[in-house]
Amino acid sequence: MSLPSASILGVGSYAPSRVLTNTDLEKMVDTTDEWILSRTGIRERRMAAEGEHTSDLALHAARAALNRAGVTPQELDLILVATCTPDMIFPSAACFLQAKLEAVHAGAVDMNAACCGFLYALSAGSQFVRAGSCKKVLVVGAEKLSTIVDWQDRNTCVLFGDAAGAVVLGAGDNPAEGVRSFFLGADGRHSEILRLPGGGSCHPASAETLEKRMHYLQMSGKEVFKLAVTAMQRAAQKALDQAGMTPADIACVIPHQANMRIVSALGDKLGLPEDKIFVNLDRYGNTSAASIPVALDEAVQMGRVKKGDNILMVAFGGGLTWAGSVITL
Ligand code: ACO
Repeated sequence: MSLPSASILGVGSYAPSRVLTNTDLEKMVDTTDEWILSRTGIRERRMAAEGEHTSDLALHAARAALNRAGVTPQELDLILVATCTPDMIFPSAACFLQAKLEAVHAGAVDMNAACCGFLYALSAGSQFVRAGSCKKVLVVGAEKLSTIVDWQDRNTCVLFGDAAGAVVLGAGDNPAEGVRSFFLGADGRHSEILRLPGGGSCHPASAETLEKRMHYLQMSGKEVFKLAVTAMQRAAQKALDQAGMTPADIACVIPHQANMRIVSALGDKLGLPEDKIFVNLDRYGNTSAASIPVALDEAVQMGRVKKGDNILMVAFGGGLTWAGSVITL
């Protein structure tokens, strides 16, 4: 008997209503709209409201995905939330989400692979479904990066935003649909170029960690940039190989939405025309684990992808981590 497929039953996303434009940032740090746009492609990003936590962003995205899937929260067996900005270190954002959804039959856990988190969680969720141990799995990428961004650091604060995206996975019987392949990679030797050092067991919160601003994200942008393109290309190629596909089989590429220059370089390396690559980073900036599911949802809602299309998703992020996955809607 062949294994079930892990079908995509529904996709949803949510972005908070408050918009922070490049012009707004000009009033906060020494920057310009021209610099941000030309170096990153970002025009604006969304900011969660006071009291709107990561699990609240996740809740909106999850409800949209569940509604489209026609699945009730009580049918869920497992909730995986990819995030590096959970509501608290513990309980997990997934547990807060489980309570808010009243998904009383679901196990719940967070996964942290920074910007690759959603693809790591999607891969894990698809394995539970394919193995037959779960029938319905909710996979969410949700981030409230505004709480870990140093709003005095122009090198980083212009890049990030808040959002959430979600996918409902379910067991199917068509091997040519759902999660077709994934490839997960990491190189922990590069941990220092992108990290949030304060508040963990290395540097528990203290007056010193506060004074040194260690509870904010730190990044060597140039170093990350150099590694990102190669890592994404490798992840994309491996995911394609494992799906037995070439770029010609792909209807749409959904890359992690970090920087337009990285996205363009990836497109060149894969030999893919611009119109096959979905971009929304101009409106959201980098939303880390939320980036890919938000873009996937927009691509579906806008009709850029339709039933039967093959989609290549590819990401890189803190760790360093990288990941690729091919899905068929
Ligand atoms: N406004 C104006 N000037 C700025 C700003 C700003 N917001 N930020 C930096 N600069 C200045 C720098 O100080 C520097 O000035 P100097 O030459 O006088 O020192 C100059 O601009 C050039 O800075 P670079 O860092 O060399 O600029 P670069 O072209 O590399 O672009 C960027 C910086 C956008 C951060 C780029 O390196 C990048 O996108 N890197 C990848 C980042 C990324 O994708 N991270 C993923 C994180 S995902 C996760 O896991 C959370």
